[in-house]
Amino acid sequence: MHTPFSLDSRLRLCADFVRVGAKLADIGTDHAYLPVALALAGRVSCAIAADINEEPLRRGKQTIDKYQVGPLVSTRLANGLQGFDASEVTDVVIAGMGADTIIGILSAAQWLKDESKRLILQPMTKSERVITYLYQNGFEISEQKCCIAEGKPYTVLCVHYTEHQSPCSEYFSYTGKLCPEENEDDSAFLRLQAKILAKRSAADKRFGELSQIITKRLDNI
Ligand SMILES: C[S@@+](CC[C@H](N)C(=O)[O-])C[C@H]1O[C@@H](n2cnc3c(N)ncnc32)[C@H](O)[C@@H]1O
Repeated sequence: MHTPFSLDSRLRLCADFVRVGAKLADIGTDHAYLPVALALAGRVSCAIAADINEEPLRRGKQTIDKYQVGPLVSTRLANGLQGFDASEVTDVVIAGMGADTIIGILSAAQWLKDESKRLILQPMTKSERVITYLYQNGFEISEQKCCIAEGKPYTVLCVHYTEHQSPCSEYFSYTGKLCPEENEDDSAFLRLQAKILAKRSAADKRFGELSQIITKRLDNI
């Protein structure tokens, strides 16, 4: 994707999952870099840059004005998707937030349970909780990728609703659809997951076992 300013690899990965011609909602937009980059690249038909706080929204407005994409990108002060109408949005990005915030936003917007909507989720913490929530609520991961930004691995989930509930084992909640055998960034993310699980093993030895299973898979590559 070519734009006058470049997104960092984490936001670029999110942006790459947005469908061409999408009506985008970027929830927790802060500087509105992602919707502005997509508007400049001609990738979205319109975008709403939304944030719960005034100050990030002000920064977002500055970016929109600077790059003169006001006709395509509007701003909205909102808690998650509250007040949004289903017809306004085809693709939703929720990036740079913790798992519990993401789950709270999704569960308050039941209209997302629609096969035509695409969710692009980038949890900063506890992605396993987000994955468990998704599978318990009829969503499925279409694709999952990882990247390294400022030396840290991140994962991005591209998600759609299916009418049925697919099973989600505890192992799957940590590893998702990642393919460390084929991708080094996936491998780096899973090494981090194994490390976090190892730290939690003092509280529950099940976490230690999961950590070992993931580590063994990575060591066999
Ligand atoms: C760390 S920034 C992430 C910015 C950008 N999405 C990114 O990934 O780089 C998190 C932003 O989410 C906003 N936020 C937190 N909870 C929110 C909620 N429930 N609804 C909308 N925005 C929220 C914060 O105000 C903040 O601007």
